Amino acid sequence: MREGKFSNVYCVDKSKASLEKILNETKHVDLKSITLIESDGCNIDWKLVKGTVVIAGVGGNTVLKVVQSCPEAYRACITWVLNPFTSVEKFLKEIVQLMPNRNIEMFEAKEKGRLRLIFRILPIVRS
Ligand SMILES: C[S@@+](CC[C@H](N)C(=O)[O-])C[C@H]1O[C@@H](n2cnc3c(N)ncnc32)[C@H](O)[C@@H]1O
Repeated sequence: MREGKFSNVYCVDKSKASLEKILNETKHVDLKSITLIESDGCNIDWKLVKGTVVIAGVGGNTVLKVVQSCPEAYRACITWVLNPFTSVEKFLKEIVQLMPNRNIEMFEAKEKGRLRLIFRILPIVRS
């Protein structure tokens, strides 16, 4: 987001304080628009979602709950999971069941001196 690769960004968080922090941190980022949505990630109306969905900064259990809340027909938009900081093993075991037709790539990145795991979930390309 900081690199300005996404012009219209929608941030969903159930905490108003967290949304205000995001707004503050993105003040100097070149975005066409940022929309803050105060909601549980499990209550998203997935029919209305377009573009790339990034699930960031929640534990593995919450990632799984958010993915489960998305009807299977709409799950293709869920592409990145950033740093599920708890229940990573459970996340890895169950995400492949929730998205059986996807490839999961894992990357490691250091942010603020700490190792973070990043997952990219892509469609399986058959040759
Ligand atoms: C550790 S903070 C991370 C904040 C920020 N997303 C980041 O990546 O830097 C976890 C955030 O996840 C939010 N959160 C936890 N469970 C959630 C859920 N089910 N739906 C929406 N937000 C949730 C909390 O309100 C909190 O703001």
